[in-house]
Amino acid sequence: MLGLVARLPDLLAEGQRLAGDAKVPTSYPRKVFVCGMGGSAISGDLLAAANPNERPPQILVVRSYHLPPYVAKDDLVVAVSYSGNTEETLSCFFEAVDRGCRLMAIASGGKLLEAARKHLVPSVTVPAGLPPRGALGYLFSATATLLDHAGAGGYHRDLEKLPGHLRRLAGDLQPSVPLAKNPAKALAAKLQGRTPIVYATPFLAPVARRWQTQLNENAKVLAWHALLPEMDHNELVGWANDNRRGSFGVVFLRDAREEPAMEARLRATVDLIGQGSVVGTFVATGENPMERLFHLLHLGDFVSVYLALLQGVDPTPVKVIDDLKGRLARAQ
Ligand code: F6R
Repeated sequence: MLGLVARLPDLLAEGQRLAGDAKVPTSYPRKVFVCGMGGSAISGDLLAAANPNERPPQILVVRSYHLPPYVAKDDLVVAVSYSGNTEETLSCFFEAVDRGCRLMAIASGGKLLEAARKHLVPSVTVPAGLPPRGALGYLFSATATLLDHAGAGGYHRDLEKLPGHLRRLAGDLQPSVPLAKNPAKALAAKLQGRTPIVYATPFLAPVARRWQTQLNENAKVLAWHALLPEMDHNELVGWANDNRRGSFGVVFLRDAREEPAMEARLRATVDLIGQGSVVGTFVATGENPMERLFHLLHLGDFVSVYLALLQGVDPTPVKVIDDLKGRLARAQ
């Protein structure tokens, strides 16, 4: 998994190439629905946050068996499942076929690609054999490129520059860099033995979610994320009376472009949580939203794997998810 995390810039470049020739009818959709689960769904959230258009189409992520009732013919549905066999995503795909929506599919194989072929739905096949969450680079840039073809994107230019940006920033995150000079290893060491909590400003919501899910799946720990300012209106109260404060490790993810009011809010929030629970604050840098999102996403991916290794767990297998999927398949 560590090698795969380090290859994110390469996978991003490759995903763009793979989707480059896809035959997609061009017509600006009003709304885009990205259907997927887990490691396949997060691309949709990132695409919504990274859209460079002044008037972007609405991009909504459907993590469910069903499309919302208002999804109609004019809308574009993109079904993304790395394995191609996730039942929720397949169910949305077939609902989109029934409703006559514009439809595209991305997978490494499985029933989704079979169904796409049968229903003449444009699709992109990404290389198989990876854990789905490790295929984010392929899935994100392939989906972005399809949206560009469909007239709903404008991602092309930012996507071209993204691998270089990540390679420049990730130099000191690599396994060969010792803990004293490696911010990802240092943070993982601070999180060891604590439950990670990731707090972020709204633009970074998909990144905070990715940190949580990577900590869950790679480091095999419970973790959660919440957003500022919303958490100041509820979750903050929990900190006041919880005598387990010391067992949590809070990470703040901030954006260089956040509104000035956030500075005072963050200072007050840290004060009320207690400085002792905060293990790190990181600020996203980059020339465009995509670069800023992926800067901190890449950092979190490394942290999750280093935490796994520190705890002596193998980051790659997610046996419990496989068991669950097996049980559900047998129940059908
Ligand atoms: C496993 C992972 C999971 C899967 C999810 C959906 O590495 O990240 O969250 O992404 O179970 O499966 P796929 O992506 O195959 O549709």
